[in-house]
Amino acid sequence: MWNKGLASLGLLLLAVVVYAAVPTHGQNSGPPGRPAVPLPEGEGKATVQAACGICHSLRQVTNAGYDRAEWDTVLHMMLNVGAPLPPGKFDTVLNYLAAKFPPKPAPAAKLIPGPARVTITEWVVPTPGSRPHDPMYAPDGSVWYSGQMANVLGRFDPRTQTFKEYTLPPRSGPHGLIADKDGNVWYTANFAGYIGKLDPRTGVVTKYPMPDPRARDPHTLLFDGPDRIFFTVQGGNMVGRLDVRTGDIKLVTSPTPRSNPYGMVITSKGVPYFAEFGSNKIASIDPRTLAIHEYVLPHAASRPRRVAITPDDVIYYSDYARGYLGRFDTKTGAMTEWPSPGGPRSEPYGITIVNGIVWYSESNTRPNTIVRFDPRTQRFQTWAIPSGGGVVRNMVHTPDGSALWIACSGMNRIGEVRIAGASLTPKH
Ligand code: HEC
Repeated sequence: MWNKGLASLGLLLLAVVVYAAVPTHGQNSGPPGRPAVPLPEGEGKATVQAACGICHSLRQVTNAGYDRAEWDTVLHMMLNVGAPLPPGKFDTVLNYLAAKFPPKPAPAAKLIPGPARVTITEWVVPTPGSRPHDPMYAPDGSVWYSGQMANVLGRFDPRTQTFKEYTLPPRSGPHGLIADKDGNVWYTANFAGYIGKLDPRTGVVTKYPMPDPRARDPHTLLFDGPDRIFFTVQGGNMVGRLDVRTGDIKLVTSPTPRSNPYGMVITSKGVPYFAEFGSNKIASIDPRTLAIHEYVLPHAASRPRRVAITPDDVIYYSDYARGYLGRFDTKTGAMTEWPSPGGPRSEPYGITIVNGIVWYSESNTRPNTIVRFDPRTQRFQTWAIPSGGGVVRNMVHTPDGSALWIACSGMNRIGEVRIAGASLTPKH
């Protein structure tokens, strides 16, 4: 897109409109009229000034802190969504950003030995700046990911070690993804307000647009059976249900304003629960009436981001803001929490449970970690992610529990965490 550059005002306006539909980070002010943000002197300043404050505040840039490789990925992400960065200026801007906005101090990963053995392998995805957001393990043994900023769904075949990317309708910004029994992949179009179905055999996408424009950013989606998808809408502050036979979509607004409905699980009884990342609550959805019931977590400062569930309906959540692992028993209402090994600023994020073990990632330690928590012994064990992780926003496990798959968003990779001996000792 950049090669059309500034000449295409229409494209820029389009990009601004698209960005307006994306949840912005808290400190961003809206488009025109936003206060000037001073940039440090240096070669590349003028280009950054001209190209980087169009869709979001320049504060998005000045508040950031990355190493050179991470800035390289960020710049590719911005090019992918249409930033007018002239090709000849790429290296100048990269040098400028890497020199002026280096990584911020972050807690060191706390590496704790323990009884489990894992092997972590990572693969760089084909398109630079993809921001692999969520991973998915398909019934045929392939691994999928949403390339949010490259607007693709990617498929990786671990047997042949090959990737295939499916380009989605323009500016979809794919986020959550889930397989159905017929081999289709359903995804939330986080930038474009629809749920999509990709048929990998034909590449054809069917769109199910949100019936209300306020539901602008569908986020996480789950099947509760063959015919219905439940989903969260983060910035739109809603949850919804899609009937895939009729295309009918029902939406309800979360009782708490700006509660940012985020990660979701469904209990063995078919009741969806979601984390309110904008508040200290976890909420259930009546699958029939869509009535929402909120459960307040003990700490006002908690911000549960992702959730995972045991076969007997105990929810574990990553408390991103306080650096805790939390437990909420949906049957008794009991709540318990443990400080995450990396400390209050470790930012626990992607989480899953398999064979009775909780696995998650700390997204702000350097490097990011894989954390294993055994509820029986209440012991933690941790590993460093070789690439550094770059924020693991979600993780899944294979059905036999022999591996986790992670998406390393800022490192433009997907990864496998192979768990030694796990499939030989399944426990439920
Ligand atoms: C065409 C619109 C657009 C332009 C122009 C643009 N950005 Fe962005 N930027 C985005 C979007 C969309 C996001 C993702 C926001 C989100 O996920 O909440 C983003 C996010 C970011 C982030 C946060 C990254 C992250 O992973 O959360 C940084 C840093 C950033 N932009 C820097 C830049 C720089 C540097 C430039 C200039 C080269 C630039 N942006 C120009 C659209 C744009």
